[in-house]
Order: sequence, then structure tokens, then C-alpha cells
Amino acid sequence: MKKIIANGIVVFPDETLPCDLLIENGKIAAIGKDLCRDGAEVIDAAGKCVLPGAVDVHTHMDLDVGIARAVNNFYDGTVAAACGGTTTIVDHLAFGPKGCALRHQIDEYHQLADGKAVIDYGFHGVLQHVDEQVLADMGTLFHEGYTSFKVYMTYDNKLNDAEIFQVLKRAKELGMVIPVHAENDGVVNYLRAWYKAQGLCTPAYHPKSRPDGTEAEAVSRILHLAAMAGDAPVYIVHLSTRKGLKEIQKARAGGQKNIIVETCPQYLTLTDEKYQDEQEGLKYIMSPPLRKKEDNEALWKATADGDIQVIATDHCPFTFKTQKQRGAGDFTACPNGAPGVEERVPLLFSEGVLKNRISVNKFVELLCENPAKAYGLYPQKGTLLPGSDADVLLIDPAKERTLTIGDLHGACDYCTYEGMKLQGNIEMVFSHGDLIVKDNRFLGKKGAGRFLKRGKSLLID
Ligand code: URP
Ligand code: ZN
Ligand code: ZN
Repeated sequence: MKKIIANGIVVFPDETLPCDLLIENGKIAAIGKDLCRDGAEVIDAAGKCVLPGAVDVHTHMDLDVGIARAVNNFYDGTVAAACGGTTTIVDHLAFGPKGCALRHQIDEYHQLADGKAVIDYGFHGVLQHVDEQVLADMGTLFHEGYTSFKVYMTYDNKLNDAEIFQVLKRAKELGMVIPVHAENDGVVNYLRAWYKAQGLCTPAYHPKSRPDGTEAEAVSRILHLAAMAGDAPVYIVHLSTRKGLKEIQKARAGGQKNIIVETCPQYLTLTDEKYQDEQEGLKYIMSPPLRKKEDNEALWKATADGDIQVIATDHCPFTFKTQKQRGAGDFTACPNGAPGVEERVPLLFSEGVLKNRISVNKFVELLCENPAKAYGLYPQKGTLLPGSDADVLLIDPAKERTLTIGDLHGACDYCTYEGMKLQGNIEMVFSHGDLIVKDNRFLGKKGAGRFLKRGKSLLID
């Protein structure tokens, strides 16, 4: 069945075209003015922005963090993503039992996601120890479509610098991107224990235990390690600080290549004032923590200038009523993470595009095209070029909406952006040409999502 999305404003990173989109057999078949409507279902998109379905390359569905399990599984989590205009996710695997093979977690995640996800999905592997077998398996799995393996510089299964260096050298050989959670583990753990020992345990001490220098030092260190490994490809996840950004700018100014940088909506739109309330503050316990207004502003500028290439969510929801309450009276016992997969597109369209912080073209670059390019999914995903999957998003920029938990679809019981008034509304979402969301109602099918074998990054040499 042919479909024509007619008379919309079709957005690419380098141009905005008032035209039609023809969809055939789940693919974009043509773009042009006044395409022939014979035998086609016509969807009127006059006045609407027509964008590629957004790509979220940083989610944690069903993540087990030891003290709690993220409440979204691959069904309700991807329903939430779809309703928020995201048609592809690349999920970060959980840590497995210490010493387990790389494939162990991948197999486990296929069991969690296959037959449940409603949109297409891929996986980033996770590295939790390094030996000859792991370095060899990185190569095998790379060729099976797992083309990125994550390194944590903090948390229990972090790697040390020698291990990270070996991983980076191997990544350089393979052309593999290494996503990195960059925080100085020693300082963070010392400060957490120190505040706790003083009885300073409210959420206000969470950001104090992870000051901006802990991010900047780790960003600087990983960039030096990558440089020593021959400009190995690194992808800094969830950048939250001006200080960390300066380290990236310095490395690039010195000629270092293959650095990709991500930030998340929470670091652009929220500040550490959220931690003042002892109860409400628990909702925002995430790592890195929320920062200052000046950090928000520096990150917005960096997204507009191209210093930051990707905005993803780090979606990792725990319920406020039960799971987050573990941290009441002791912020160190609170599971880290917050929901955001459904809010990213409408929030940033309103706060970014319609408040003139970024152009609509830059929006498509940051939320669709670059994430797909960074992780080997382009041009199948992230664009509306002929031949691409017909994953399409229609936004009405004239409509208003207020973000509130009652309108969201995930299993979490709170909205990170509760009460925020937005301009712009998601009207329809298509996956492989099928209408899966209309007027905030999910119309797709459990298990319709396909596993994505990914290729090489297009954002590295
Ligand atoms: O607090 C967070 N961000 N939790 C999810 C895991 C991570 O660090 O990305
Ligand atoms: Zn992280
Ligand atoms: Zn994360």
C-alpha cells in the first residue's frame, strides 16, 4: 500500500522543503512536490513539520542496577519512546556477573527485547573486564552488528586506565566507537562516604558528591587515553558541565579526532535547584547530577555550534513511590536514573527550536541523523532520503501541550518535566510506513520492532 504524506514541511539537516513524501513497502520511495496520488492513501500534513523518526542511542530498558530494576521493559519502554516520536533505540546493556563473556549480556538482552519491542532496536555492549578473550570477542561481535562497547569510569564494574587503554587500542583497530561514562570514581566515592559519615544525606548532597571537576577530570583522562591509542573513537555520554566541554574543545583544538559528544535534555533544561526538596529531589538523583544554569547555557551553545553532536536521553526510570524511596534519608542508597524517552522530542522541539536556541535543521541533526551516523545506522535510520526506512514523525508547531505523567505511556509514576508547558505537539508517528501513534494513542504492535545489526560509525575517520 502506497502512502503520501502531503504538503508538509520536510526537514533535513541542511534544508527544509515544503513537499510530499511517498512511502512504499515500508521505505521512503520519493520526495517531491505534488507527487502522483493515484492509488495512495494521502495523509494531509499541511502546516506540520515532517521529520525522520528520532533515534535515541542512550536508553536503559529493564536495567538491573543491583539495588533496583528500571521499571520500563522493552514493551512499555518502547511504547513510551514511540509516543514521544522515537522510532529507534540503541540500548545500553546491564553489567553481567563479574567475569562473564561479552556475549552473555547480549544473549540476555535479546531475551528481554525480542518479541517485545515495538520499534527497532540495537544494543551497545558493556565492557567489565579486559583480557585476550574480551579483546578477541570485540572483533567477532563487531562483525555481528554490535559495533560499540561501553566503558564506565565509575560504578562497581568500572575499568582501570590500563584496561581502558587496551580497549581503546582495540577499538582503533576495529573502527569501533567506545561510549564512555566519564566521572572520577575515587573522588565521587570518597565524597559520598564523607557526606554520609557527617549525616549529610539529603538529595542536596548528591550533586555536591559529584562536583563538575569529577566529570572534567575523567573527560580529560579518557581523551588523553584515546589520543595515546592513536585517536581511538570515543563517544562521551551524558556530558553535563561547562568544564567537561572545555576539555573536549581543548583536545579538538589540539588536533585530536574521533571524539563524539552527547548531552541529554535534563542537562539542558533542569538545574540542581531540583535537589532542594528532600522528597522531590529523589526524582532527580542521576549520574552525573543536574548542574547550574550556566552549564545549561554552555551546553545549548555547544549543540548549536556543533561541539555536541547528539542529544540522547539516558532514560533509566525508577518509581518515585517505591524505588526512589530507598534514598529517603540516604541519597547514596537511591537508584540512579530518571525517565525521559517520551519527553525528549517534544521538550527539545519546544525549548530548542521554538525558543530559537537551535534551528529545526539542527534539531534533526542532533536527534536523528547524527545518532544514526554515530552508531552505524545511517542512512537506514535518521533521515528521510529515498531508500531509508519510512520512520516518520509529524509535529504540529502551532499546538500547545503540558508535560504531565497522566499523558505518558511508560511504567514510571512520575514525569521528570512535570508541568512544563510546551509549544508543538506530536501528531503522528510511522514506523516502516505503519502508523503507530496518533493523537498520543499507541496503535502499533508488540514485537513489531526489529533488531538492528549496526555498521561502522560515519562520524569517525
Ligand atoms: O544515573 C544514571 N545515569 N543512571 C543510568 C546509568 C548511567 O550512568 O548511564
Ligand atoms: Zn552513565
Ligand atoms: Zn546511561
